[in-house]
Order: sequence, then structure tokens, then C-alpha cells
Amino acid sequence: MLGLIVDGFLMGWPVFALLVGYFMYCQTSISDPEMKKRLQFKTMIAMLTGLMLFMAISNYSTNFHGESRLLPVSLVMITTLCFIMGLYFTNLAALFKIGGFMFFVAAALSGYGNWLPQVEGGFPPPVVKLDFQSMSAQQLADEGEKIIFGGLGQSKVQGAIGKGQCPLCHGFQQGFLSERAPNLFDVPARASTRLDEPNYHKGNPEARPSVQKEAFPGSGTAENAQEYIAESHACPNCYVVPGFGVKGSNDTESPMPRIHKPPISLSMGELAAVDTWIYIREGKEAPAYDEIVASYEKFIPEADRITVTAEEEEGGAAGGVLATGEEPVNEIFMKAACVACHTIPGIEGATGKVGPKLVEGTNAPKRIKDSSYKGHAKSVREYITESILDPSAYVVTDYPDNQMPKDFGKKLSAGAVNKIVNYLSQLQEGKEPPPVE
Ligand code: HEC
Ligand code: HEC
Repeated sequence: MLGLIVDGFLMGWPVFALLVGYFMYCQTSISDPEMKKRLQFKTMIAMLTGLMLFMAISNYSTNFHGESRLLPVSLVMITTLCFIMGLYFTNLAALFKIGGFMFFVAAALSGYGNWLPQVEGGFPPPVVKLDFQSMSAQQLADEGEKIIFGGLGQSKVQGAIGKGQCPLCHGFQQGFLSERAPNLFDVPARASTRLDEPNYHKGNPEARPSVQKEAFPGSGTAENAQEYIAESHACPNCYVVPGFGVKGSNDTESPMPRIHKPPISLSMGELAAVDTWIYIREGKEAPAYDEIVASYEKFIPEADRITVTAEEEEGGAAGGVLATGEEPVNEIFMKAACVACHTIPGIEGATGKVGPKLVEGTNAPKRIKDSSYKGHAKSVREYITESILDPSAYVVTDYPDNQMPKDFGKKLSAGAVNKIVNYLSQLQEGKEPPPVE
């Protein structure tokens, strides 16, 4: 509040100077004491309402970022000052009253839009239990599209992403450049030829050069295209597409997370939906639901299968905010998928290898000192914030640019970014990570 008054004062000082000048002028030039008093009073009122106007404007300009809930406060202030002016400046009363009324309506509308849902806590998202098993192939494919991209029809939308998080790394459209991971167009056709590649070692997992030979002991290798897809999803390390392995691992280790495990955690039904979409969208016939599920049963041990039917949240992740900042920090890292690309000490499941290990207490000071650093950060906290909101400001040596999503500024609340920064700034190489509250 005090800040607003100070801001209002700063922004409004030329007007104040004028008003004070006018006030002094009234003191000297008018002789009728009655008139003088009235004028003085009016000037006071004008100054007060002027101050309010500038407070309203500065409140608006400092707090109105897209969805601020303080916008109606500004409008209410302007409404009030219009009516006050209307009371005392009788010759302009009609004008002020009309203005006041208009601002009142605007305040009421934006107050309704901005406040009511939050004040009431919103409606709980309708929970729809999906019965994947009894769906038609097209229905399954639709669910698959929602899981991968966050909504129906979203597969054509640049940047759309759903709980499966695949578009973080994979391109899906024919001909799209996909640097982080193979473009998934044509996978159904490619899958069967993969099995014949010499380094796939079909039927002989022991001969594989990869860090993991089999999804689990005795699970063996894929025998057909659908099994190849299931194995790719359940055990990315079993076979690594040449050129796409973790940097320095010589293609023996995959950066792709197992998608039936946290943070992605797709259930058996969801896996079947994703695969069905992969076939259907190319106009190919998908294997039957039971056949797809059987292919996953080959590579996912019973204890790891998520069988409960998925609960779908209305609205999904598409276009919306990934994290509000209410969540504990480990959940924010999961929801924003940082864990898929980064190793973060102290955060369970954060074993990603696409980007650097986020020991920022150690890394950030080094980056800022780096002669090629062109960003604006002066402290560890600023460096982390900049890395999240503007990843290309500085690209860590040996890592490619444009890998880290650039829209976290839109998808994470300020509170969520703050929690991330608090946590990462405490991480130091060789030191115990802080507790996760
Ligand atoms: C963090 C990045 C990342 C995410 C997220 C990711 N993948 Fe991958 N994926 C890769 C990389 C890198 C490869 C290539 C290395 C390998 O073979 O494991 C790959 C390989 C694959 C392959 C084999 C492709 C081929 O040409 O043989 C399939 C299929 C696949 N991913 C599907 C998916 C699906 C479906 C999802 C989402 C549910 C997903 N991936 C999420 C990085 C990712
Ligand atoms: C698709 C993969 C990907 C995702 C998802 C991702 N990052 Fe990154 N991140 C990278 C890569 C690659 C780099 C290194 C290249 C660069 O500097 O842009 C990086 C760099 C960083 C850096 C600078 C690290 C350093 O030591 O200088 C920070 C901090 C960071 N990421 C934080 C995050 C946070 C927080 C999230 C989640 C909100 C996140 N990243 C999500 C790939 C990713």
C-alpha cells in the first residue's frame, strides 16, 4: 500500500506541482474569504483524487501481468474518485458520474472474471473414468492424441504437449526437424526394420552394447513391430537409436524416460491409446487393444504396471499453466518436466540427461564468469531465473541451443519459478541437497 502511494506520488508529481501552484494562486488572488475557502477545499479534493488516480495506474502497471487479480482494485479506485469528483465539481458532475458508472461496470465485470472463481476455489475438474478396453480404435487414438498433445486436434498445434510429454523431445510431423529424438512419423513402418539392424541383436540381448540388455531379466527382445514400439517405450535403454544416445555414452544409454514410470506414469490403457494414435494418424491399421497390452506385458513386470483406468482431468495440460506454485517443489519439477531432461539432486525421479545436472549453486557463478556469457544475471538466483525464462540468453557449452522449452515464462506461475530458484540455488556439487518441503 505504502509502495503504491509512493509510486503514485512519483508518477503524479508534475500534476501535483500544478495543483499546488493553483492552490497558492487561489490563496493570493481571491479576496472573498467564502470563495477562497471553497476553492481551497476543491483543490484539496482534486489533489486527493489525483493521488488516487496515480495509485490506481501504478497498481495497474506493476501488478497487471496477464492474469493479475489486482486489476479490479485499480478500476474500483477510479470509480470512487470519479464519484468524489462528481460530488464536488458540480459543473462537471454529469461527466464524472457517467465515467464513474462505466468504470464501475468494468470493475464489476473484471472482478467477476478475476476473483469469483478463485475466491470460491473453482469447481473441481470433472473426473472422467476412461474405459480404454471397450473403446473403438478411433476413440483410443483420440485418447492417445490427448495424452501426447494435451487435447484433441492438438497434434497439429506447434508446442502443444500433454501428460505423455513426448513432444518435448520428438517431432511428429513428416519432414519436421527433430534434433533431440527421432521424428516419430513412420515409426510403425520403421519399427520392424529396426529389429533387423545388427546392433539391435534380436533374440540375443546379452550381445547388446547398451547399459541395459533387457527390460527385466528374461523379458527378451522384441519380435515384431508392435513389440519394438512397446520396448522403446518401456525400456529406452534396451536399444538406442544411433546418434540419439546420452552425450558421451556412445549410444549405449538413452535420454528418454521410461514412460510407464514417474514422472510420465502412463497406465497400460494409456500406453495402448498412445500406440493406437501412432498407427491410426498415418492411416494404418493399429493392432487390437489386447495385442498392444500383451506387447507391454512382455516388457513391463507385473509390479510396475499401472492398471487403474486413467482419470482424465478436463482441460489437460495443453496451453494451460503447468504449475501454480502451490505445489511442493519436487512436484513442480515433475509437472514442468524438468526431470525428463535434468538430473536434480534430492528430487526423486529427476535423472534426465538431456541437459546439465542442475547444481546451480556451483554452476551459476561459473557461467556468469564465463567470457562468452552475454546474459544479464549478476547473481545465482538471477542466472537460474534467466535460464528458465530465457534459455537462449546463454547456452551451456557443449549443449545445443533450443532444447529447453522457451515457454516456461507462460506456463509457470511466478510462485513456481520462485520455488524452483530457491531450491536450485541451494544445490552444490558434492554437498547434500536441502530437504524438499
Ligand atoms: C526426454 C526426451 C524424450 C521424451 C520425453 C520422449 N522420448 Fe522417445 N526417444 C527419445 C530419444 C532421445 C530416443 C532415441 C534414443 C532411443 O532409442 O532410446 C527416443 C526413441 C523413441 C522411440 C523409438 C524411435 C525409433 O525411431 O526407433 C519411440 C517409439 C519413442 N521414443 C516414443 C516416445 C513416446 C511415445 C513418448 C511420449 C510418451 C516419448 N518417446 C517421450 C527421447 C524422448
Ligand atoms: C527438453 C529438455 C529440457 C527441459 C524439459 C528443461 N530443460 Fe533446462 N536445459 C536443457 C538443456 C539442453 C540445457 C543446456 C543448454 C542451455 O543452456 O540452454 C538446459 C539448461 C538449463 C539451466 C542452466 C544450467 C546451467 O548449469 O547453467 C537451468 C537452470 C535449467 N535448464 C533449468 C530447467 C528447469 C527449472 C526446467 C523445468 C522448468 C527445465 N530446465 C526444463 C534442457 C531442458
